[in-house]
Amino acid sequence: MGRPVLIRGARQLLTLRGPAPRRGRQLSDLEIIEDGAVLVVGDRIHSVGASRRMENLKEARGAEVIDATGKAVMPGFVDSHTHFVFPVGRPADFEHRIGGASYAELRQHRGGIHSTVQALRLMSPTALQAQALRWLRKFAAHGTTTVEGKSGYGLNPAAERKSLRVMQKLDGRPLEVVRTFLGAHVVPPQFESSPDAYVDLVVGQMLPDIRRRRLAEFCDVFCDSGAFTLAQAKRILLAARELGFGLKLHADQLTRLGATGLAVELEAVSVDHLEQLEGDELEALANSGTIATLLPGSVFHLGSFRYPPARRLIERGAAVALATDFNPGTSPTPNMQMILALAATQMKMTPAEAISAATINGAAALGRAATVGSLEPGKFADLIILDTGDYREIAYYFGLNLCRMTMRRGEIIWPAAARREKAR
Ligand code: NIG
Ligand code: FE
Repeated sequence: MGRPVLIRGARQLLTLRGPAPRRGRQLSDLEIIEDGAVLVVGDRIHSVGASRRMENLKEARGAEVIDATGKAVMPGFVDSHTHFVFPVGRPADFEHRIGGASYAELRQHRGGIHSTVQALRLMSPTALQAQALRWLRKFAAHGTTTVEGKSGYGLNPAAERKSLRVMQKLDGRPLEVVRTFLGAHVVPPQFESSPDAYVDLVVGQMLPDIRRRRLAEFCDVFCDSGAFTLAQAKRILLAARELGFGLKLHADQLTRLGATGLAVELEAVSVDHLEQLEGDELEALANSGTIATLLPGSVFHLGSFRYPPARRLIERGAAVALATDFNPGTSPTPNMQMILALAATQMKMTPAEAISAATINGAAALGRAATVGSLEPGKFADLIILDTGDYREIAYYFGLNLCRMTMRRGEIIWPAAARREKAR
């Protein structure tokens, strides 16, 4: 184990210690220590507190000091919903949509997700991994330390495995990568006339195979018009639960099919999107243990104005998380800071609520609230130093990167120069 590291002098040290997940009013509670310090020993947080006190700890003797004077220090972002393994972007679709085509129309014409699937199937694992790694570096540069990734651009056993293996190989390089099987993303063209036969394939072959190979921890389904029906989603998720997968669901993005109610009924760890959510289902979700994951980046990029009902969810006591939904079709940003800006301006979440939603509640949405998402003794040393002393500026200066240093498991992973400096 190397020398301990003392990050000291932080004008605001956002610890986020306390209850996880945060609900309702707890979301505003960042547990800030002024002039704070974090002592890192190995890959863990040894202690947090006032700089003066921390400097005098015997464990801090001989520590390498990182001066955070005047800056804010906070947990790294936990981005709990992304599709970061894809072959290329879709700027042509983007242009068509600007010209008036809808996202659903593009898909019907075999563009959209289908074009990504076609390209991914043809790409070698090495090339796919290189693309994905490039994006992971961007996540790290913008302050994310844990990222979830979904398959779902393979849509056959071999290509789904290929995506999940890429993520498996990239785990820890440099981020923690949590893998989700989304074989039920859309029905592949070959099964267009018999979608249930594809569901048979997912349930009968893909799920057990992926479980046996330990390629994914969670199973997700896109339940929407043009994707999977409520009955199909239920069948897949029940089979997944039986096999020991944690459950997630893309629900109420474009149409209301009752998917949120299903997620609550099946005690999914999270239900994601929720643009169309209202009424009894909103109440049921707020009163459940399922995390409500909101993805405003996709609403923004699709040029829609219907954001999920964040305020009502928070007022009813839901555990709200925020994620990028990074993907080439609806949300081409790996930058959680931009998501915070959208949460604030479009969904009226306060900067503090948005930070809780993007850290500790994101961790809860991945079943990792005990190890990441807050700065507490014993947790992994996953943290960022901001280019500002006021955390509210993350959501305020939109489109800027205010992350000046990213540390994961006690190692500086961004910027590269600081990493070399520390190694000397
Ligand atoms: O979360 N909703 C479905 N899946 C993605 C979009 C995938 C794509 O268009 O490539 C989403 O928005
Ligand atoms: Fe998604």
